[in-house]
Amino acid sequence: ETCTVDRYGGEPFDLSEVRVGFSQSEAESNPFRITETESIRTEAEERGVDLITANAQSDFSQQISDVQDLMSQGAEVLIIAPLNSDGWKPVLDEAAERRIPIITVDRAINGTACEDFVTFIGSDFVEQGRRAADQMIAALDGEGEVAILLGAAGNNVTTERTEGFKERIEAEAPGIELVFEQSGDFTREGGQSVTEQLIQSQPDIDGIYAQNDEMGIGAVTALGGAGRGAGDVRIVTVDGTRTAVEYIVDGWISGVVESNPRFGPLAFEAAEAFGAGEEVGTQLIITDREYDSSNAEEEVGDAY
Ligand code: AHR
Repeated sequence: ETCTVDRYGGEPFDLSEVRVGFSQSEAESNPFRITETESIRTEAEERGVDLITANAQSDFSQQISDVQDLMSQGAEVLIIAPLNSDGWKPVLDEAAERRIPIITVDRAINGTACEDFVTFIGSDFVEQGRRAADQMIAALDGEGEVAILLGAAGNNVTTERTEGFKERIEAEAPGIELVFEQSGDFTREGGQSVTEQLIQSQPDIDGIYAQNDEMGIGAVTALGGAGRGAGDVRIVTVDGTRTAVEYIVDGWISGVVESNPRFGPLAFEAAEAFGAGEEVGTQLIITDREYDSSNAEEEVGDAY
């Protein structure tokens, strides 16, 4: 499926002559968010595009008002990294009225492509879940009890990373039992405190699938604090941050599926093509790499 400025409703534009607004959802303490924002800023700078930005610090109503502010500050194109997938109506209505194209990066906004937004640029999150399951199956040799540290609720990333993981475990690993799942909110503290509870209630747990690196790092802290050693509990995570890949080298984490946050080039390329009246895909999937003990040492320098 594709979208054009004609079908979206609006006038062609030259990207170098418009102001672009970028709305970041989460605080930039997570390297995923730091790298994502940096990628948008760097690409804007390289192209000489006038960029204004806002950060909602994980507060959804703040993000809605941030995007409204970006529009009132003259943004004519919006790049949004949404916190939640639902609840965007006030923004979508206002953007439609002003004919402002919206590009979403990473998480999706629920709505109709080429009507509510132009395009979604992100990973295949179901596939990330499947790849994490493959890593867990390999790490446990197909046998054991596994816990899931879910991401934050209310977005497609958590749902799809769960879906892909369960689907693959059910299909390929009858010897693996999923015995626990709780949200750690995609934060390091959340991952640590949920893991502390987990090892109290299920001390024999064999594996932890943390749906992002920050929670996985929190899990390592909890396990270390409880006197467990590296590799006692097999941990698989998603993101590809430097610290998580270093933990593979140290033996604490078995595998990391990358979630590539470097959306800048794709987002500005899409905005430019859209402004020029070209067809733009309504779903642009970014490539994710993968790390395990076979390549972590060699490739840790590529991690963000
Ligand atoms: O939506 C993507 C997720 O959000 C990343 O995996 C995570 O680190 C961030 O919080």
